[in-house]
Amino acid sequence: MNSSANTTIQSIFQRDADEIVANLGDRVKRFAGKTVVLTGAAGFLGSQFVHFFARLNDLGHLEVPCRLVALDNYLRGVPAWLEVMAARDDIDVRKADIVANRDYPATEFIIHAASVASPVYYRKFPLETMDANVIGLRNLLDHAVARRPESFLFFSSSEIYGDPDPAHIPTAEDYRGFVSCTGPRACYDESKRYGETLCATFHQVHDVPVKVARPFNNYGPGLSIDDRRVLPDFFRDALAGRNIALLSDGQATRTFCYITDAITGYLLVLLSPHDGEAFNIGAESPEISMEDLARAVIKTVGRDLRVTRQLSDDPNYLRDNPRRRCPDLTKSRQMLGYAPRIGLEVGLHRMFDYYSCNPSADVITRV
Ligand SMILES: NC(=O)c1ccc[n+]([C@@H]2O[C@H](COP(=O)([O-])OP(=O)(O)OC[C@H]3O[C@@H](n4cnc5c(N)ncnc54)[C@H](O)[C@@H]3O)[C@@H](O)[C@H]2O)c1
Repeated sequence: MNSSANTTIQSIFQRDADEIVANLGDRVKRFAGKTVVLTGAAGFLGSQFVHFFARLNDLGHLEVPCRLVALDNYLRGVPAWLEVMAARDDIDVRKADIVANRDYPATEFIIHAASVASPVYYRKFPLETMDANVIGLRNLLDHAVARRPESFLFFSSSEIYGDPDPAHIPTAEDYRGFVSCTGPRACYDESKRYGETLCATFHQVHDVPVKVARPFNNYGPGLSIDDRRVLPDFFRDALAGRNIALLSDGQATRTFCYITDAITGYLLVLLSPHDGEAFNIGAESPEISMEDLARAVIKTVGRDLRVTRQLSDDPNYLRDNPRRRCPDLTKSRQMLGYAPRIGLEVGLHRMFDYYSCNPSADVITRV
């Protein structure tokens, strides 16, 4: 990536971090002088957490700066922005596999976001995905029993609901799910479900102050264009001037939550007193079909393109894929004051700006 593109990318991350800081207000002061351990730091959510903590210190809102220990095994590569962040004194970037590692620094906050999230890649790395959500999580929970952090956040997923019964859409936290334990998505869905069981049990047995976030389709800067999730795939086609090829009938629906709203929600969960609880974090609307989403991306990019159909070369691509996914956010709104604000049109334009700085899709360096 050339240096002017790098500068633009940094300013995009900075704008998003400023928005998250503003959303949280005085609550950010809880991080003053504290250490935060973040796993999965090189991933999509990791990118936004790292920039948020860096910006929090740069803005001088904290009397004593916080310190971030940013861990990743680089299973999905090393993003260029991480090298910039690694040069800072307040961010300790370390290569670490949380499945093998049992040696963590004393810390007040733990954010466990390590686990491949893209369906194409978790099917490529099914055992690594399960291990991060079960063995890696267990290592961190054991550490929390010994070192008593103030708060611990585990990233579960809306996928724990599987393909919900239509009567349970929008889906609330008390819906128990309709999930295959052996299908092609099971390595992800079931390890997240077991991860949640581990969290609930460590809370009950050892009083660990652990909370669970269930993200519903986040998007925005930091999501690598070659990640193979739906929005990067659509942007990759549109930016290359190709028609957008749908790998499905285009009728499945999702809601999409812009990353600053999502990170605000996760930090509200982390900073809340609700130990042992799980919260949906996402956006309730618009619930949009993949076909309409492809059209929205074409409109954002402003090119004369069409939506076409193509068969995936992976026969399992659509197996157990939920037809609809939409969160009920009543609990998060009432207990956390969570209120997503960035609409899809604005969010897609921001994502377009980010990808426009990376036309060759080289955000990630393979290791
Ligand atoms: N982004 C979303 O919309 C979304 C939706 C549902 C759930 N989640 C969950 O949120 C978390 C973060 O998601 P993301 O989108 O940033 O994922 P991502 O795939 O972009 O990043 C995950 C990161 O974890 C790292 N990792 C994997 N195994 C590891 C290990 N054993 N040790 C250390 N690092 C390891 C990878 O190298 C990668 O950098 C994940 O737990 C994911 O399941 C995200």
